[in-house]
Formats: sequence, C-alpha cells, structure tokens
Amino acid sequence: MSHIIIRGGRRLEGALTVQGAKNSVLPILAATILHPGQTVLQGCPHLSDVEASIRILRHLGCKARWEGEALVVDAGSMSRRDIPDHLMREMRSSVIFLGAILARLGRAEMSYPGGCELGPRPIDLHLTALRQLGAELREEGGRLRCTAQRMAGREIALSIPSVGATENVILAACGAEGETTIFNAAREPEIADLQAFLRAMGCQVRGAGSSTVCVAGRRPTRDAVHTVMPDRIAAATYLAAVAAAGGQVELHRVNYRHLSTVTAALHGAGCQITGGEGRVVLRSDGALRSAGTVRTAPYPGFPTDAQAVLMAALLRGQGATVFVENIFENRYRHVDELCRMGADISVADRVAVVTGVPRLYGADVRATDLRGGAALLVAGLIADGTTRIGDIHHIQRGYEDPVRDLAALGADIALEEPPPAAHQ
Ligand code: EPZ
Repeated sequence: MSHIIIRGGRRLEGALTVQGAKNSVLPILAATILHPGQTVLQGCPHLSDVEASIRILRHLGCKARWEGEALVVDAGSMSRRDIPDHLMREMRSSVIFLGAILARLGRAEMSYPGGCELGPRPIDLHLTALRQLGAELREEGGRLRCTAQRMAGREIALSIPSVGATENVILAACGAEGETTIFNAAREPEIADLQAFLRAMGCQVRGAGSSTVCVAGRRPTRDAVHTVMPDRIAAATYLAAVAAAGGQVELHRVNYRHLSTVTAALHGAGCQITGGEGRVVLRSDGALRSAGTVRTAPYPGFPTDAQAVLMAALLRGQGATVFVENIFENRYRHVDELCRMGADISVADRVAVVTGVPRLYGADVRATDLRGGAALLVAGLIADGTTRIGDIHHIQRGYEDPVRDLAALGADIALEEPPPAAHQ
C-alpha cells in the first residue's frame, strides 16, 4: 500500500494552476452518451474517479482516449445499457449515468449504489423525479431495472436541492418529449458547467446556477469541445494548506466567486486574500485564529467539501471554531485521525468544535474519505515531525497529484511506494 510522507514545519511559497473540477467532469462524462458522436473534454483532470467513469463508458460500448490533457469520447458505438456491480462499486456517483442512459436508449440497468464513507447516500430524489418523467424503475435484489420508452417533460420540484438529482434529471429530460422545469434545483457552479457542455452539444438547457432549470428535450446533438471548469474544492484545499503552513500562494485558473465563502472564512482566520480574473492570492503568517462558526450549506453557502480541509488549517492556532455540518450525516470521520496528531476537536452529532493547540505531532494516519484525506495532508504540513498517510486511494479520487503540487510550493512531501513483491 502506498503512503504519502510529510515532514511538517515548512512555509509554502509559489504558484499553482488548479485542476479541472471532478464534480463537473463526472456528470459531463455521463452526458457524453447523449450524443452518438465525438466529444473533446479539455482540461479533464487525471483522477481515479475519471478513470472509473471511462471504464463505464467503455463497458457501454463507447470509445474514450486521452490526448494529452484532453479526453476524447465517442459515444457513437454505444451498445449496452447496463452498469455491472463491480463498476458501480468503484464509484457510487455512477448513478449519474442513469438519466443519460435512459435518455439515449430508453432502458437502463445498474446495481443500487451503496452508501459511502459519508453515511447513507440515498437516491430517492433521483428515482422519484425520473418516475415523474415517465420512467418505470424496479429495484430487485440490489439491481435497478429501468424502462423509459417515452419520457414526457413536466414540472419537477426537488424536496432538497440535491446536486446529483438535479444533474440526473437534466440529463434524463434531454431525452424527454417537451419541456421539463426543475424547481429547487441545486445551484452549484458544476451544474452551470454541465449546462454549458450540453448547450455546446446542441441541447437546450437554461437557468443552471439558479433554483429553476428548464430543459427542452430531444434536440439534435452535435460533436462538441468543452473545457472543464476549475475545481473550486481543490483550490480551497491548497488555500487551506498555505493558510495553515504560512507563506504565499497564487492560484491560476480559478473562479474567485466560487470560493467566496471559503476565502471569507480564511480571511476571518487572519489571512490576506486578493482575487482577480482567474486568480487568487493568499498570504498567511501561519498563526491562524478562530474562523467563528462555519455552517455548511448548499451553494452559495460554505461547501461541505471544504469543511475538513478548513478544519485542518485551524488545528494549530488561537481560539475555537465551531463547524456545523448540515449536508451529510457522517462527515467528521477525519476527526479521529486528526486527534491522533494532537488536535483538540470535540464532536456532537453535526457540530464539531475545534480548539487551536500550540503544536501538532506527526503520526501514522489513514485517509477515511476523499476530503478527510486532504485534511490529513494539511495537518501533516503543520505537524512537528513526520506524518505518514495510508489509504491514499481516497485522495487520488479527487486530486490529480497533491504530492507534486505541495512539493512545488516547498513542502517536504513524498509518495512512498510499497516495496516490489519478493519473487517466489
Ligand atoms: C455531490 O454529491 C458531490 N459529488 C459531493 O462531493 C458534494 O459533497 C455534494 O454534491 C454536496 O455538494 C459529486 O458531484 C460527484 P447531494 P451528491 O445529492 O450529488 C441527500 C466530494 O467530496 N440526498 O447534493 O451525492 C444526501 O444524502 C463529494 O467531491 C437524499 O437524501 O450530493 C446528502 O445528505 C462528496 N436523497 C444531501 O442530500 C437523494 O436522492 C446532499 O446530497 C439525494 C441526496
């Protein structure tokens, strides 16, 4: 098993270009099957979740190949409508393919996505909305069997602004007769990026970024080229790292507006932050104070995906910060690992109180999930001694190369590969 080794205590300095957004490219990869032709995704991040999506596309009969930083998909040869269990288990967000397969083929089959590290991840909103469009969905023995020979557009109100459900309905609605209007849609920027891609492909979608999204179904599609938006959570992660370690970082290819609640929290904790077209600069003396109370919320609120890395940045400093996790039931699994490094964190249900301590200590820790693993990277940068992070496959789902990026800023960090297996 590979590990990431960090020797803490260094200030960080430099510039980074932010990777393409995982949470934008995953629904866009599902959307490519709406068009029986070619799609070029520029700035597509090299992530294990992207590789998992490519395996699903190839299983469905599509072609996909890397051309440098671009991923080229040809869905003209799509021949299957099912996603096997082993591919669903690799990535629970594969459920996002359901709406697109139904729109393209009228039938779909996949295993029921299980829960994940963040707790039960129900898909009831996805299924209810797809049924409202006319899909027949049967759950049998852990498999979802779906038919939707003729979906009809209609008004759909989501009980919560679910990101995945909004995306699934948009993709299914592209295959429905007539217009679909989604009320209480999620407003995350990744949905606006999905809309931009769909429009490039000839689909008629409008309103993404607001709570009301409209889709005119069954439009002729065409080959498209799209540049994936920058990853605001990866950007938040690197800002938190430099805020904690002290120093200065300039991030390129980033949308400052997408980070406003994160930069506000870091500014409140004592950082100097400036932003402009496509760039953000953060300066920190590494002695952070309380960020007050941080409540996660649907966009444009504070992103739940940045909760763990901000928490890690505040572990060594002055004062106490109160986190309230309002999106997921079980998103404090990184706390135990951070406490092994000397952090002072107390959790009660959805509330975590982080009290800054004078020192953290390097330790052997394990990533519990994607963003919890990123939090361990941040904590390792400010711990005395060596931190050895295991189960880094969680981190590799969403970050292209954090070792490369943090080393470029001056961190003492390395990837430790397991010794080659002894030959019998
Ligand atoms: C997306 O997950 C992101 N993943 C998550 O990022 C992100 O944390 C989340 O949105 C919130 O912003 C991708 O885009 C691939 P939701 P998603 O549906 O779509 C409940 C990361 O670290 N819910 O908005 O699964 C659900 O249980 C990942 O990059 C239902 O109850 O999130 C959760 O409590 C983690 N029924 C809440 O809604 C449903 O049918 C928000 O979930 C759907 C969701």
